[in-house]
Amino acid sequence: MPERNLTRLTLRRPDDWHLHLRDGDMLKAVLPETARHFGRAIVMPNLVPPVVTATQAAAYRARIMAALPAGMDFTPLMTLYLTEDTDPEDVRQAHASGSASAVKLYPAGATTNSASGVSDFEKVRPVLDVMAEIGMPLCVHGEVTDHAIDIFDREAVFIDRILKPIRKKVPDLRVVMEHVTTQDAVDYVRDSSKNLAATITTHHLIINRNHILAGGIKPHFYCLPVAKREAHRIALVQAAVSGDKRFFLGTDSAPHTDANKLMACGCAGIFSASNTMSCLAEVFEVAGRLGKLEAFTSLNGPAYYGLPPNEKTITLVKGDPVQYPARLETGDGPVTVFDPGFDLHWRVEV
Ligand code: DOR
Ligand code: ZN
Repeated sequence: MPERNLTRLTLRRPDDWHLHLRDGDMLKAVLPETARHFGRAIVMPNLVPPVVTATQAAAYRARIMAALPAGMDFTPLMTLYLTEDTDPEDVRQAHASGSASAVKLYPAGATTNSASGVSDFEKVRPVLDVMAEIGMPLCVHGEVTDHAIDIFDREAVFIDRILKPIRKKVPDLRVVMEHVTTQDAVDYVRDSSKNLAATITTHHLIINRNHILAGGIKPHFYCLPVAKREAHRIALVQAAVSGDKRFFLGTDSAPHTDANKLMACGCAGIFSASNTMSCLAEVFEVAGRLGKLEAFTSLNGPAYYGLPPNEKTITLVKGDPVQYPARLETGDGPVTVFDPGFDLHWRVEV
């Protein structure tokens, strides 16, 4: 294969279509890790309290820009946290003014800071109708919260119980199924003819549930949706490296301090902003599909969001293993960087 000898790879600057930046000291520490390599990111609204209105999104964006070190070029694309009280006209105005690029749906209680999410999907129908009308994407955390449903089945059940009915009622709604973790989700996206795409995280391309649970519990591999069995990981890799326009990168890089991860009830989230591009290059190279990396990280996402790809480029260079710091120091305490468990040979040239 011609790829065997590839040692340099130039791509359009990538974007991250699902990212947690937090606020305050944590924002200050993690933002440069993303802005170093990425041009834009869809920024998650699950702060405490959540970013619900156009005004709150504009204020959060201003805080992000204030935290961006001088000379770094990065554009945050904001999202609104969907609640049962969200005003459709505020969403319309947020979209028209550019204060928000998408709306985020968390089923109530599904994950970190999701208590204000949606329980009764009929209550948000007027918002979804407006979004379909104006072409604003809905980013979906696709897991049911029903305690009777096994945590490893919650994504597949969400598709049947929640997502299919929503898309049937509002067929023009543009949906992004975020951080898909199962063959079921990959198949569902592949079988749809329009208005559906999916993001895939870096870590779900690399770990399966054994990484979390076999040989001792590994809190730094715990995130939601939780990683599934190996067959599902393989399905995700196949989707990511296929070049299919409906699959693109959303790292779901989600920093929590080590203190909050390493406790009896530790937080869900994996912080991968620092080494994501090196990890992905390795995954795509092993699959023999380095030629499709740019589609996944830099082309398919903007196309779905109706944006042009970034003009700038980055170059990945292959060489001796790159060492990333194991932890990022933040004003709130150290945050562990995702450890893929293998050497990373591709570094981003700066
Ligand atoms: O693992 C996760 N962490 N999944 C989410 O959906 C939320 C995120 C966070 O905010 O920490
Ligand atoms: Zn997330």
